[in-house]
Formats: sequence, C-alpha cells, structure tokens
Amino acid sequence: MKKMLIISAIAALACSSVFAADGATIFKKCAVCHGQKAEKKYLNKVPVLTEIDAATRLADMKAYKDGSLNGGKGKVGMGGIMKGQMAPLSDADMAAVNDYISTLK
Ligand code: HEC
Repeated sequence: MKKMLIISAIAALACSSVFAADGATIFKKCAVCHGQKAEKKYLNKVPVLTEIDAATRLADMKAYKDGSLNGGKGKVGMGGIMKGQMAPLSDADMAAVNDYISTLK
C-alpha cells in the first residue's frame, strides 16, 4: 500500500513536470500573436487568452483543430490561422499548453 502511494506520487510528479515543460515550450510560438503572458489582444480583436476560462480555451483549441470553430468568442473570423496553429498539436499538447496559459495570470 505504502509502496503504491510512493509510486503514484513519483508518477504524478514526473507527469506534471513533463507537462509544464511542454506547455511552456509549445506556448513560445503562441506568444508571437497572443503575447508573452497571453495578455495581448491580437490585432486588437482576439480576446485575451487568460481572460477566457480554461475549459472554454481547451474546447476552442480542439474546435479550431477540427475546423468547426471559426470565430471564437470574439467572432474574428480567422479560425483558419488557428487551425494551422493547432494542426501539429495532440490533445495532450493542447491540454499542456492550456494548463500553462492558466499559470500566466
Ligand atoms: C499567427 C498568430 C497566432 C498564433 C501563433 C496563435 N494564435 Fe491563437 N488565435 C489567433 C487568432 C487570429 C485567433 C482568433 C481566431 C478566430 O476565431 O477568428 C486566435 C484565437 C485563439 C483562441 C480562442 C480565443 C477565443 O476567443 O475563445 C485560443 C484559445 C488560442 N488562440 C490559443 C492559441 C494557442 C494555445 C496558440 C499556440 C499553440 C496560439 N493560439 C497561436 C492567432 C494566433
């Protein structure tokens, strides 16, 4: 029992640090448009990412990737740009970068 706990604690630690690193790395390319701290209103239109709740952000990323969202909350009509951004990201990548954005307040 004790051994199990230790193993799962180590696994959790390993996962969270790997995720944090990935999220920060992935976010570097997002920062060009969304700002270093996700604070930028891209083209003065796109909502500031840190002001969108985490669940919506993640759902939006997935919808951009599958092409079903073109407009976001700001209805900017540039979903095509985001589709290209999301294309190389797996669900785990999106979750990691989303978690990272949540830390940028
Ligand atoms: C080339 C510029 C550019 C890059 C790079 C970029 N984005 Fe975007 N992002 C946009 C634009 C433009 C929109 C608005 C698209 C629309 O819906 O019309 C947007 C919208 C979003 C939204 C939805 C905002 C809302 O209104 O709900 C999220 C979340 C998001 N981006 C996350 C990311 C993440 C995470 C990355 C990095 C993996 C990234 N973006 C990289 C330009 C960019």
